[in-house]
Formats: sequence, structure tokens, C-alpha cells
Amino acid sequence: MTAPGEESNSRSYYADGTVTLLLGDALAVLSDLPARSVDCIVTSPPYYGLRDYGTPGQYGLEATPAAYVETMRALFAEARRVLADDGTLWLNLGDSYSGSWGNQGRGEPRPMKQEVHDGRYPAKGTRTGSVPLGAPPAKNLLGIPWRTAFALQDDGWILRNEIVWHKTNAMPESVRDRLSTRHETLFLFSKSQRYTFDLDAIREPYSAPERKSGARAFRARNLNHPRTGTGSYDGPDSRGRNPGDVWSIPTRPYPEAHFAVFPIDIPLRCIKAGCKPGGTVLDPFSGSGTTGAAARQLSRKYVGIDLNPTYHDLAKQRFAQGVLDLGPVA
Ligand SMILES: C[S@@+](CC[C@H](N)C(=O)[O-])C[C@H]1O[C@@H](n2cnc3c(N)ncnc32)[C@H](O)[C@@H]1O
Repeated sequence: MTAPGEESNSRSYYADGTVTLLLGDALAVLSDLPARSVDCIVTSPPYYGLRDYGTPGQYGLEATPAAYVETMRALFAEARRVLADDGTLWLNLGDSYSGSWGNQGRGEPRPMKQEVHDGRYPAKGTRTGSVPLGAPPAKNLLGIPWRTAFALQDDGWILRNEIVWHKTNAMPESVRDRLSTRHETLFLFSKSQRYTFDLDAIREPYSAPERKSGARAFRARNLNHPRTGTGSYDGPDSRGRNPGDVWSIPTRPYPEAHFAVFPIDIPLRCIKAGCKPGGTVLDPFSGSGTTGAAARQLSRKYVGIDLNPTYHDLAKQRFAQGVLDLGPVA
């Protein structure tokens, strides 16, 4: 086993002392990395049944939700070994509807083709038709994020938060028999009961009404406290408020070819809270390197894994030019 970034690693695609890009299947590459060698994982794996990244061995094209969840469970078991004992995992997952292959999760779902499947991936061109064995009938919201979260929990991960990423500029959908989707899920997991979490680094300013109602609650509790009359509530924290578990963040257009990019605001917040200063952040599905760009901005080291060298090239270009490395848009 070689340390992340060691030149002798045959999977090394790029390394500059701060950033290391490793090429290959995420599970295989992770199994080469030493135990407890990264401090924080921030990632957005391929969602179930939504996109074809055009690379053999890609995840997300499994025949059934259960097969996808098993892929994720095995992957994050290996990632857990690589994570420091006080480390955190921030896992962004969107949901899918059964029968929505090829619709990018939007529009009226098309039914999937019936096939008896012996491997992890439906053969190309067989993803439309009737429903695969073990998959719910078309039009079902699959609950993929929570299925995955429960599997990881069963595997020993501690689930600390479900964060709703509210996309303030979500694309309209052409559906007429359900509500349109405006959010994705971000889970915070820890490996141990005690873990790195710097709440102060991500506190937000109180709004004026919050300050007012906080002060009112403070006064009320001071007056009503049964024992001391001095109250058990300290009032609003002078360092700002806890940002809470609903994050309203717009998506950002990405000018290059990679289309499933999360906004840098997400990894920025995760890393500030969940990675100690000077630590190492890992993204096993690095894509265009958004997590890496955030890690660089925050002076953390970065290890990114991807199956597709084209995406690593985009990431390299992005690191060199600072593309999309701007602050929050909202
Ligand atoms: C949702 S995208 C990640 C996007 C990334 N967060 C960004 O901001 O650019 C998922 C990525 O996983 C990669 N991928 C798919 N299957 C993989 C596998 N088996 N091993 C490693 N990477 C894989 C795809 O090439 C794609 O870049």
C-alpha cells in the first residue's frame, strides 16, 4: 500500500504536493490506500439510473436499487477504513424514480426493460422496456438516499444528520401528476462517537426577526426559571446561529462537459465544519474536482479518484485557472 500522492502509485494521474488525482475504479483505488490516511470525505456518487458517464465499470447503472445500494455499501466500507477515526463523511445523493432511465430523473418515467441480470450493470440499450426483477414498478420514487443511509448505518457508520439541499434555482420539470423535485439529500456520517466538527466555522448571522425573538425567549425564560429566576437559556449565540439542516444553495452552471457538478458552496461548508485545519479531504467520485477546489481554497490537501481521465483533466484545468472557485453566488 502506498500513501495518497506517492509517485510510485501506478494509479497516480496527477500530484502537485497538495492535490493528488488517482485514476481507476473507486473501490479498487481505495483498497490501495492506507488505513486512516484521510480526515474527511465529501462526495457525490453517480445517482441511481440517472446518467451514463460513458465509462465501462461506472456505478449507477445497476439493475435494481438493492444492487446499487450494495455497490455503495461496499465502497463506503472501504472508505471507512481509509478515514481517520475522528473523520467525517458528507454524502450527497439525489433520488430517482423507477422507470426513469435516460430521462435524467425528469419528465414522465419510461418503463425499464425486463431482464434477468447476472452482473451489476444492465447491458447498454436494455434500459427501456419493462421492469427488471427486484425493481419497483415504474413511477415509484425509490428512496435511494435513505436506502443507502440505512445500509451504511448497518455497516457501522454513525448517521448524524440528514441535510436537505434546497436548490433555489431548480430546473422546472414537465410532470403533471406529482410535485417537482427541488432538493437533494446530504448525509453527515461519522466513524466514531467523537469526531471533528467545528460548528463555529459555519455559523451564520442571525436575521433581525431571529434576534428579536431570541431576545424575547431569553427574557421570558429568565423571568420564568423556577429555581434561580436567572434562566437556563443563554440567548442567541454571539458567534452566530447554527446553519441548520436545510441548506438553500443554487446550482451553478458548469461551462465544461461534465454535467453532474455540485456547487462549491456545499463542499466548502462540509470541509470547514468536518475537516481539521491542514487535514486531507477525499472525494472517491472526483469528477470535475469541485471538492478539490474547495479543499484548496481552505488550505486542506485533496485526494480525488475518478474512473474517467477526461474529468481529471477538467479538474486539473480548474485547479490551474481557478474556474468556478468563486465564493457563494447567493
Ligand atoms: C456525480 S459525478 C461527481 C461530480 C463531482 N462532485 C463534481 O463536482 O464534478 C460522479 C462521478 O463518478 C465517476 N464514477 C462513476 N463510476 C465510478 C467508479 N466506478 N469509480 C470511480 N469513479 C466513478 C464519474 O466519472 C463521475 O465523474
